[in-house]
Amino acid sequence: MTSTESSTGVFSRATGHEQVVFCHDEPTGLKAIIAIYSTALGPALGGTRFYDYATEQDALEDVLNLSRGMAYKAALAGLDLGGGKAVIIGDPTRIKNEALLRAYGRFVQTLHGRYYTACDVGTYSEDMDDVARECDFVTGRTVAHGGAGDSSVLTAFGVFQGMRAAAQRTWGAPTLHGRTVGVAGVGKVGRHLVRHLVEDGAHVVITDVNAAAVAAVTAEHVDVRSVVDVDALIEQPLDVYAPCALGGALDDAVVERLSAAIVCGAANNQLAHEGIEKQLQDRDVLYCPDYMVNAGGLIQVADELEGFSFERARQRAEKIFDTTTRVFALADAEGVPPAVAADRLAERRMTEIGRLRGLHVPR
Ligand SMILES: NC(=O)c1ccc[n+]([C@@H]2O[C@H](COP(=O)([O-])OP(=O)(O)OC[C@H]3O[C@@H](n4cnc5c(N)ncnc54)[C@H](O)[C@@H]3O)[C@@H](O)[C@H]2O)c1
Repeated sequence: MTSTESSTGVFSRATGHEQVVFCHDEPTGLKAIIAIYSTALGPALGGTRFYDYATEQDALEDVLNLSRGMAYKAALAGLDLGGGKAVIIGDPTRIKNEALLRAYGRFVQTLHGRYYTACDVGTYSEDMDDVARECDFVTGRTVAHGGAGDSSVLTAFGVFQGMRAAAQRTWGAPTLHGRTVGVAGVGKVGRHLVRHLVEDGAHVVITDVNAAAVAAVTAEHVDVRSVVDVDALIEQPLDVYAPCALGGALDDAVVERLSAAIVCGAANNQLAHEGIEKQLQDRDVLYCPDYMVNAGGLIQVADELEGFSFERARQRAEKIFDTTTRVFALADAEGVPPAVAADRLAERRMTEIGRLRGLHVPR
């Protein structure tokens, strides 16, 4: 191996992943990568993202990052699950069809349950029904096929629980009553979050690039105001900012201008770069780690593995309140931002509970 190969080769990357599988079925055009970060706590669970990546390298980077995030999310949510994720490369509106999804299902099956799949960007419950025709390790199927259906319901509920815990810590009561909350992105999760906030007595301001999404929310809740874009939302006097659109929502410019005392939203990977968590802390903004508060959807699809009960999953998602409170307490005790405290708690659970598998139990 040349020195160039050793610095760029896949094994020298030291990403910490257990297994990365490349799947190719030429006749259907399937090109997929399945990444298993950790199975320390149980089988890896994570959705399949179907996306038209500019390059195969971009797809690989995305699946490596996302699968690692799933391991932390499952660990902190107290689930007996590891972390994995898959990406299918290509434009789903052009190449997605039954044969391709079933070919993908056959590859997932070859992992014999080390990886369970689910929906993500570009895949829907109906697609999981197709994958499940070839594969036993699928969650997020339609309710008609015994699945948990749309996971955004409990994702929003969990974000709301995290926000209540942050309100308790900031203002002394677990409610958003009378507070002004800015929600960026009122898609599947954001619109459910708005409903929880309105019911709790919050003043809600929203924005979305999709005018129809805004119109649907303002028609349902007449007191909800909308502003033209995220910049305008950031300029508002806010008590809480809830990023519920894309990743990277918290960059230097946003943190500089934000008036909110709390950031708590559903979007994955909100911190635009390393160090932002410290900048938020320095400005006295209480940041609720994204993967901690948006775990409700994972909890919902994970429940399918036990035969889906919405009520049981809802009760588990409600515990995001307690987890958020614990993370804030650890952050105080160890003098670190909540994002670092969340990582530490997740890593601790992966190590402490994962270690138990080394104790031999005769069957
Ligand atoms: N759906 C889930 O269960 C779930 C679980 C965990 C995390 N998340 C994350 O939460 C976020 C929202 O997920 P979702 O399922 O509601 O997705 P979605 O696509 O239904 O909604 C996202 C909304 O954001 C809007 N948007 C996109 N760019 C925007 C911009 N620049 N400014 C304002 N609005 C913009 C879109 O128009 C859309 O209405 C994503 O980051 C997702 O990864 C979702």
